[in-house]
Amino acid sequence: MRAEIDERRQWDRLMAMARIGAIADDGVNRACLTELDRQARRLLINWAEEIGASVSVDAAANLWLRREGTDPQAAPVVTGSHMDTQPNGGRFDGIYGVIAGLEALTALHQSGVTLRRPVEVVAWTNEEGGRFAPGCMGSMSWSGFRRIEDFADVADPDGVRFADALAAHLASETDLPRRPLGNKPHAYVEAHIEQGPRLEAEGVDIGVVTGIQGSRWFTVTLTGDTAHAGTTPLALRRDAVQDMVRAIGALNALMRDPKDVLRFTVGRIVVEPNTSNSVANRASFTIDFRHPDKDVLLARGDAIAGVVQAAVRDADVSVQETFRALPVEFAPSVVDAVERAAAEQHLKHMRLPSGAFHDAQFVVPVCPTGMIFVPCRKGVSHNPAEYSQPSQLLAGTQVLTQTLIDLAST
Ligand code: GLV
Ligand code: MN
Ligand code: MN
Repeated sequence: MRAEIDERRQWDRLMAMARIGAIADDGVNRACLTELDRQARRLLINWAEEIGASVSVDAAANLWLRREGTDPQAAPVVTGSHMDTQPNGGRFDGIYGVIAGLEALTALHQSGVTLRRPVEVVAWTNEEGGRFAPGCMGSMSWSGFRRIEDFADVADPDGVRFADALAAHLASETDLPRRPLGNKPHAYVEAHIEQGPRLEAEGVDIGVVTGIQGSRWFTVTLTGDTAHAGTTPLALRRDAVQDMVRAIGALNALMRDPKDVLRFTVGRIVVEPNTSNSVANRASFTIDFRHPDKDVLLARGDAIAGVVQAAVRDADVSVQETFRALPVEFAPSVVDAVERAAAEQHLKHMRLPSGAFHDAQFVVPVCPTGMIFVPCRKGVSHNPAEYSQPSQLLAGTQVLTQTLIDLAST
C-alpha cells in the first residue's frame, strides 16, 4: 500500500509556517501560547479540515488531528512534534514533524487508502521551554509524567504565568472539541531534523533513531547585596556576579569529559540590578546538562548543588532542578518499522541516538515509540541558519508515511 507525498506542497506549507514569527536571516521566533502560535495552529487546522480530519484539543492545549480507520475500536497510531520555536530559532525544528504528519494524512486521504487503525497527528504544547521552562510540558502532562497544574506558576520573562497563558489560549479555541488528556496509542513515531552533523557527514538520507540521551535542567540563584561600584571596598561586598563566575568555573571542572560525550551548557543569565555601576545583588543562571548514561546523569547532576555551594564565597545559594528526562531506548517494533520503510524505499539509512530531547521521550512509557531523523545542513539548529533541503524532508515524510501505514494496518 502506498500514498504519494507532494514535495512541493510540504515545502510550501513549511515556508508558510515560517512566515508566522519570521525574524532576520530566515529565522523564526514563535513562542508557545502566543498570538503567533495561535495563527500557526489555525493554519494547520484549516489544512486538516480540507482533508476531513477531525480536530480537537486537550487541557494542555496539545492539538490533535485525526483520520479514522476501519476499526472504530482500534487504538490510533500517533505522529507529530511541536510548533513552538526557540527565540532565535529556525524554520524546521519541530514544525517539520507536524507538517510531515499532515502531509502523510493528506497523502492517505488523496490515495483513498483507509487503514485499520486511526492515524492522529499531535502538535505538543511548549516543547522548547524557551518562553516557559522547562520544555515538553504538553507531552509530560499528556503522559502523566507531570500534571499540567504543576507548571501553573512558571513565569515567562515578562512575568506572565503559564496557567494564565494557557487559559487565554484555550479560551481562543472553544470552537474545537475538547478531548481528555492522555490515551493509549498503539504506537508513536515522530519525524524531526537531526539537529546534529552525523547524517550529512555520512551522506545518509534517514536516521533511524534508537533512543534519546538524558537531560537535567537546573536554575542556580545567588543572592548577595547591591552596593555602589565606586565606593564599596571589595572586602565589604557580597557580589552575586563574582560568585556566579566562581560557581560556573567549578561546574566546568565537575563536568569535564575528555571523551566529549557529556553536554554542559549555561545558556541564560539574569543579573540584578543589571547596571554597570552597581554590584549585583542577584545572579541566576540555567544549567542544561545531558548524558546518554543514566548513572553519569544522576551522579554528576546530584553533585551540582554541593559544587556550587562550595565554590561561592559570599552569596546565598539556591539550586532548583526544573527538568529531568532520563535516557530512553525506543521500541524495537517501531525502530524496525522505520528501518524497513527506509530500506523499501532504497534510502540510505543508519541507526543513531538523539542528543536533543523530544516529546517522544515522554511517550516511551505509554506506547511503543520511535523517531525518524533527516539531515540538516552542517548539523546547525536552534539558529536561523537551520536548513534541510526539500528533497531531504520529502524522504523523511515518505519513510514516516510508510511507517504509519505499516503500524496502522495491523
Ligand atoms: C530541544 O529543543 C532540546 O533542547 O533538545
Ligand atoms: Mn524540536
Ligand atoms: Mn528545539
